Amino acid sequence: MRRKVTVVGGGFVGSTTAQRIVDSGLADVVLTDILEGSPAGKALDMLESAAVTRSDASVKGVSTGGGDYKETANSDLVVITAGFPRKPGMSRDDLLRANYDVVKGVVEAIVKLSPNAILIVVTNPLDAMAQAAYKISGFSKNRVIGMAGVLDSARMSTFVAQELNVSVENVHSFVLGGHGDDMTPLPRYSTVAGIPLPDLLPKERIDAIVERTRKGGIEIVNLLKTGSAYYAPSAAVLDMVEAILKDKKKILPCAVYLEGEYGINGLFVGVPVKLGARGAEEIIQIKLTPEENKELQKSAASVRELVSVLGV
Ligand code: LAC
Repeated sequence: MRRKVTVVGGGFVGSTTAQRIVDSGLADVVLTDILEGSPAGKALDMLESAAVTRSDASVKGVSTGGGDYKETANSDLVVITAGFPRKPGMSRDDLLRANYDVVKGVVEAIVKLSPNAILIVVTNPLDAMAQAAYKISGFSKNRVIGMAGVLDSARMSTFVAQELNVSVENVHSFVLGGHGDDMTPLPRYSTVAGIPLPDLLPKERIDAIVERTRKGGIEIVNLLKTGSAYYAPSAAVLDMVEAILKDKKKILPCAVYLEGEYGINGLFVGVPVKLGARGAEEIIQIKLTPEENKELQKSAASVRELVSVLGV
């Protein structure tokens, strides 16, 4: 049976995500946007590209500006990218209210037509939007997952590979916490060919990599000036989509609803999660030092602040 993925939001993150899914041939794609015309144009262009990249995945673009989501019905997976991106000088949190309204409208429409879907939330501020989607959808917690840890870890891996002049394939980075300035990169659990980072680099180099990882999003925003990152975010989404659709049981850092794990209750925060056909199938708990735990709790507290503003 062919699988169906809806990507909500036809901006750069949404359209590059759709393109990656089409190229991978993993699923047929519906790309939606509230704009007239442009999702259909992007989707047709993408479909024609598939004749070259040799993918039989279909892709259709629909405008949902009039509130009609029927083309999205019976999706296996829905990736929500809709929302306003950051501009220079803005934190992810500045997007809170505006993007809450967007996510609320989208989730209400989507869940009626795809009651069995798994939701991957990408809209910022990520953890709060994932929590909003979870509460609004009424879905079980394994079916609402936020994308951030894969992106943040990818950034850290890039910097580690550059620093050590090694293949990025050798690098496994580990980032916990919310997708904000207090995210928690864990050098002790980050490895190069299995060797922990602290055995390979002096503390000040590691600290610099941690800091650059935390600011990885704004570094791109400041360079682009008119929006935020999309190549690495869409690659990160594809990793999660593939793990779920292929039932890989792949452990990836994702934002999920914690109910006591890591001492955090009733909150979306990034932790290692086993992704498979049922979505977030298991939360992997690891031992943290008191220092690491302090950082994770600080990051969770930042997420909680946003969530309480929204009352979700
Ligand atoms: C980033 C934004 C999209 O990290 O959150 O690039």
